[in-house]
Amino acid sequence: MVDVLGNMRRTNGCCELGAKDIGKEVVLMGWVLRRRDHGGVIFVDLRDRDGITQVVFNPAVDQAVHAKAHAIRNEYVLAVRGKVDPRPDGMVNPNLHTGEIEVLVSELKILNPAQTPPFLIEDHIDVSENIRLQYRHLDLRRPQMQRNLILRHKAGAAVRNYLNNQGFLDLETPFLTRSTPEGARDYLVPSRVNPGQFYALPQSPQIFKQLFMISGYDRYYQIVRCFRDEDLRADRQPEFTQIDIEMSFVGQEEIIQLTEGMMTALFQDVLNLEMKPPFRRLTYEEAVGRYGLDKPDTRFGLELKDISDIVASSGFKVFSGAVKKGGIVKALNAKGCINFSRKEIDDLTDFVAVYRARGMAWIKVKDDEWQSPITKFFTDEEKKALAERIEMEPGDLIFFVADQPRIVNEALGNLRNHLGRRLKLIDEDRFDFLWVTRFPMFEYDETEKRYQALHHPFTSPLEEDFDKLQDDPLAVSSRAYDLVLNGFEVGGGSIRIHQREIQEKVFMALGMKREAYEGKFGFLLSALDSGAPPHGGIAIGFDRLVMLLCGETSIRDVIAFPKTQKAACLLTGAPAATSKQQLDELQLRLRPGLDA
Ligand code: AMO
Ligand code: AMP
Repeated sequence: MVDVLGNMRRTNGCCELGAKDIGKEVVLMGWVLRRRDHGGVIFVDLRDRDGITQVVFNPAVDQAVHAKAHAIRNEYVLAVRGKVDPRPDGMVNPNLHTGEIEVLVSELKILNPAQTPPFLIEDHIDVSENIRLQYRHLDLRRPQMQRNLILRHKAGAAVRNYLNNQGFLDLETPFLTRSTPEGARDYLVPSRVNPGQFYALPQSPQIFKQLFMISGYDRYYQIVRCFRDEDLRADRQPEFTQIDIEMSFVGQEEIIQLTEGMMTALFQDVLNLEMKPPFRRLTYEEAVGRYGLDKPDTRFGLELKDISDIVASSGFKVFSGAVKKGGIVKALNAKGCINFSRKEIDDLTDFVAVYRARGMAWIKVKDDEWQSPITKFFTDEEKKALAERIEMEPGDLIFFVADQPRIVNEALGNLRNHLGRRLKLIDEDRFDFLWVTRFPMFEYDETEKRYQALHHPFTSPLEEDFDKLQDDPLAVSSRAYDLVLNGFEVGGGSIRIHQREIQEKVFMALGMKREAYEGKFGFLLSALDSGAPPHGGIAIGFDRLVMLLCGETSIRDVIAFPKTQKAACLLTGAPAATSKQQLDELQLRLRPGLDA
């Protein structure tokens, strides 16, 4: 049988050949990165997944082949046979793995021509992300994207390797399932054979992995897709991947140790970097207190200072009034930023307004005085206390926000990150892991007027807080922990509830009636009743982790076929309208106006 390759069979990849191969006859296949015509001799950089080799069409070697090479354009797919030759003196390229040699071509097959691509297949291209996503198959040819996806593969392999060696079983869980509450909206799939009924795509395998523990599988993992219909950002996609882990007969310490071991192996295997566990830990309260956020970037200082006690009875009503209303006042010392202009300060005030801060007061610390519209409101004593607490030094610029704790912390925590980047306080080569522990069990949702689980409703409260579940839910701490890396939440998990009674109490604290939770989670409650071991686990956001390993700033750059802000795939055109016939089969009808 004849195939398009004819008698050509690839002998080497495009990143393989070197001085040791000089004189060999080889066959290479790949894409044309560039073609240069140098007065009669044609040079082509031939590219494959691994790299580039220069191949040369010289009429002195073969006139017919040289003539044929005139047709070659960028991104054509070629097969070439030729002899490995040393490059002439002065032409050696030390930046290229194959820079010492070139291949003198004696046989050329154009396996496929190509349209001129809409952008150059190289790094640092100046083209909009939408164009890149529309032609993703071309974008993925770029070396940077190939590096990212290869690194992603290596990271997955390192994780599997580590967990397999620790006795974990890689077990699958369904995608067509019931709602698994992780706090986002579900993606629904209509059931044709059960008209009017829907599956939900899993927001995580949470309940199934707990069922595996109840079934006695002891140690489970899966590198698995999760689906969440939520507002998208640089670090959020509607479908994303978790390293999902669950273990039986363990407490928080075992899960933290396992995760630290896994991260250490991963960084070693993928980046050849040595991580040194144990990683630092902060309680939720400490993290929010010092950094304003529960996922602080700990690569730089600029910690927040609570000054509520000092200003509680001061003459500055914005501050004292906030404290009286149960709020707080915090300060952020932008060291050495005294030269910020009014315009710059106004811009930063707009920045914190996004987090609902209604204003931002400031003080510039000069050698012997403060320059600030609010100085006049403070007594000498208050000034002294503030200077001490905030560690003011001449040249500093201090920012203040007074409001409810959540607003103050979010505003100043995000301002801190912003200033850390702007003032170049962050060592971008550093990887700073941090555990945040002892999360509150619930938060109050103002819009829905009810309590929500901060992690998910299967998280165990701290045992000593069990009796507060009913009367004082906000005072209940949970056995949840997050793993933070360079200011990103890269993972989260908890010790789970393994007793029906506690699980029911948590459902009730969330405002669910018996019929509601029995209807939705009766299968879980009955499983808890059937001999559930104590268990717990964690899920690492694989895309975020790989993004940080790659030094990228968006998870879209480490996902082969990601979606846009509007949850669209520009390559395939999904989501798309469907036919009337498909809708009829599902017994669904669109709202008038949507069915055009
Ligand atoms: P959680 O909801 O915290 O926990 O998710 C775990 C980790 O997944 C990542 N992540 C995301 N990454 C990209 N896009 C998204 N939309 C997205 N949402 C979450 C984050 C996050 O830390 N079942 C629990 C885990 C457990 O308790 O074991 C869970 O899913 O990095
Ligand atoms: P005002 O009295 O409203 O003109 O505010 C005086 C100063 O306090 C201005 O610099 C405001 O930006 C600042 N300010 C107003 N509201 C707040 C707030 N909630 N927290 C911190 N500073 C504020």
